[in-house]
Amino acid sequence: MTEALSPGGLAARAADAGPRARPRVLFVSHTGTMSGAELVLRDAVRPWAGSTAFLFEDGALADTLRGAGLAIRLARRGTGLSGLRRDASILTALPKLRRLAGLALEIARAARACDVVYANSQKAFLLAAIPARLVGRPVIWHLHDILDGAHFGRAQRTVQAQLANLCAARVVVPSRAAAEAFVNAGGRTSRVTVVPNGLDLDRDPRSPTALRAELGLPDGPLIGVFSRLSPWKGQDVVIEALAKIPNVRCIVVGTALFGEDAYAAELRARVSALGLSERVLFLGQRSDVPRLMQAVDAVVHPSVDPEPFGRTLVEAMLAGVPVIATDAGASAEILDGGAAGILVPPRRSDILAAAVAEVLAKPDAVAARTELARVRALTRYSAAGMQQALATLILDIAAGA
Ligand code: UDP
Ligand code: GLC
Repeated sequence: MTEALSPGGLAARAADAGPRARPRVLFVSHTGTMSGAELVLRDAVRPWAGSTAFLFEDGALADTLRGAGLAIRLARRGTGLSGLRRDASILTALPKLRRLAGLALEIARAARACDVVYANSQKAFLLAAIPARLVGRPVIWHLHDILDGAHFGRAQRTVQAQLANLCAARVVVPSRAAAEAFVNAGGRTSRVTVVPNGLDLDRDPRSPTALRAELGLPDGPLIGVFSRLSPWKGQDVVIEALAKIPNVRCIVVGTALFGEDAYAAELRARVSALGLSERVLFLGQRSDVPRLMQAVDAVVHPSVDPEPFGRTLVEAMLAGVPVIATDAGASAEILDGGAAGILVPPRRSDILAAAVAEVLAKPDAVAARTELARVRALTRYSAAGMQQALATLILDIAAGA
């Protein structure tokens, strides 16, 4: 943690700015499950011990934030929103209105005790924006989604963008792709700040061979896919591609975190229908993704809809393995237009298969790109850089900038 980011550094900046004490932040999240957005929040709150998190549900995120020194306020009765798909029609939420109104009141009360509200998800922003403004607190929306037609219906996009125009002091997005989508949905350009996600990862000094032995992974050509199982993450395309490249094995890491169990079952069924059971290994949810990445010959990032950021892309870059990613959303900007990895069109298992075969056959031909990717990830996507940018933004908003 840099000095500017340490609690002492923040306090000093706040003191310099005037008589007000260091701002108290209310971090709001709708989910208790840890996916990319919650991992970003885990790192973003590090300088904010003593602040509060308002969570719609208990779970791993609550434990993590408590561990970071935040006070946790849990919504009293929950929202019943967890099972609601984010692209569901607004009408679907209507029966839950009474509960949601109660929740809005709770958020307003929590917001009154703080200086600034930081909503870390789309659902958190939808519920926190108006209550926070009613009690006169500025709202920062950390928008981890791409507000486009692939992910959201038209009405949802418009409501979210207009609510942001009305209520958000700032909308933070992790990529230019996410910023563009927000503006295309009707959001004001002047409200958006791009703060790329940052990660702090240690490299395992062991060789891929030693790691494979320890992890019980097979020898020979091996690729990996590292995302939660969800139709838009595109694991099915990799399975189709594997059917075209006979000697290659693949580890599929991750689980269906948000109720996409039918997709997970379909993937398994497709693997056995294609006779790939020996070559596709489902490893489930893991806590050692960076190590697993270092053990494979290439990481495939196959999202079929635009990816808002994709922490796994940067993790693969830091692991020093070749990255093959679909050119949708932020991948191109993260991989420097393809100079730091291989970009393929989404949903094209034939092109993906050819790209994988090429990288595995001629690893030396991509070594320079892989090294460029590692350096690029270290310099552009550090956790410290992200914390610094977010902390500065929070201080500025709290100070009324
Ligand atoms: N991840 C993990 N274990 C798994 C699968 C994924 O810890 O089994 C992590 C992965 O390393 C990454 C995050 O989950 O840090 C996923 O973030 P990303 O931004 O790639 O996608 P999201 O799921 O948030 O859309
Ligand atoms: C969301 C996005 C992912 C992004 C993460 C953190 O979960 O799907 O692309 O990396 O948030 O911003």
